[in-house]
Amino acid sequence: TKMKLYLFFFTFFILVPEKHVFTIPRDEVLWALPQTDEQVEALQDLLNTTEVILWQPVAVENIQKDREVHFYVRASSINSIKAQLRQLTIQHKVLMGDVQGIIEKQTTNDTVNARGSSSYYENYHSMKEIYHWMEAVVKVHSDLLQKIYIGSSYEKRPLYVLKAIHVRERDRTMTTLLEHFDFYVMPVINVDGYEYTWSHPSNRLWRKSRSSHGNSKCIGTDMNRNFDAHWCGPGASHFECQEIYCGPYPESEPEVKAVARFVRDHKDIIKAYITMHSYSQLVLFPYSYTMNKSKDHEELESLAQKAAKAIKRTTWKTYRPGAGAQTIYLAPGGSDDWAYDLGIKYSFTFELRDTGTYGFLLPPREIKPTCLEALSAVKEIAQHVLQNL
Ligand code: ARG
Ligand code: ZN
Repeated sequence: TKMKLYLFFFTFFILVPEKHVFTIPRDEVLWALPQTDEQVEALQDLLNTTEVILWQPVAVENIQKDREVHFYVRASSINSIKAQLRQLTIQHKVLMGDVQGIIEKQTTNDTVNARGSSSYYENYHSMKEIYHWMEAVVKVHSDLLQKIYIGSSYEKRPLYVLKAIHVRERDRTMTTLLEHFDFYVMPVINVDGYEYTWSHPSNRLWRKSRSSHGNSKCIGTDMNRNFDAHWCGPGASHFECQEIYCGPYPESEPEVKAVARFVRDHKDIIKAYITMHSYSQLVLFPYSYTMNKSKDHEELESLAQKAAKAIKRTTWKTYRPGAGAQTIYLAPGGSDDWAYDLGIKYSFTFELRDTGTYGFLLPPREIKPTCLEALSAVKEIAQHVLQNL
């Protein structure tokens, strides 16, 4: 018997109005641009009364006219926030539509590459993994690296600084620099906060330390508001629940105390201090606690310009040089200002990539070029220091 097979191909076009498409609601990062003083105020009110995580600027009070605002919104609040922005006619758009998906992708390759292999440096790693890595590199390169214990965190994790000792390197400028300088590198200062971002994936964007404060329900202090440099002046907050909480007193955080003590104990031999942050592609120098210029403003400005140019030559990325408060906002209690006032003239904060496309969730493929450009800026600064010893 023969069977005839008739194949029918159907193509279905189903038209569904947008609002009826079934999608799982997802967290988003929104972008907004207030263009009048009224809009600035309205946006501040809106962000104050809704549960959002501000990405840029760091605090609601720092929102300014004609400056981009980036903020993270939980799925459940998205529709209402967008409706209100529309009603206020504040220009806005979605920067990232699937934040959870992006976070998931960035936290899955913690242990798949061999420690120290090149792909290992192209992924993000958990605190536990970074501790193992520190141990491993110091063991393999015991001739050029030392691990120095400088104290312990609030949750009693050890705090380490790696010291790179001069040896023959392949890179000529690096050889010269390492002949004249030792480099001290602290891979992670906020060890508790960082660990927390891995063990609680919904809190991947935690900023503060993990210390508790009496009977307050809110945890953590902003370490970059906890140094003893115009501590808790305008630009910081006395309120425990704020992202820019300055802590109960200067150096209240054991991590800040450990770093401050280490730097103080070595202040006569330390010629430059650089702290790496993200994001917005800036080369900042003191002051951040005042709008006034420091006495070395001109020299630091031209050096920051040179550093930004070195970055441009390396990866074509544009970094903007400037004094902290004048360039972004008043931020007292920062480590750069503190180091500068201690007598370390060459004190900088790098705000690394990007400018908001991924913000705090920079894709792993951008880690390596970001490191290369930052290193070129570090070299530029080191060479300047060497010429001015
Ligand atoms: N991202 C940094 C912060 O808010 C910027 C701080 C600039 N302040 C400074 N002291 N460098 O912590
Ligand atoms: Zn920062």
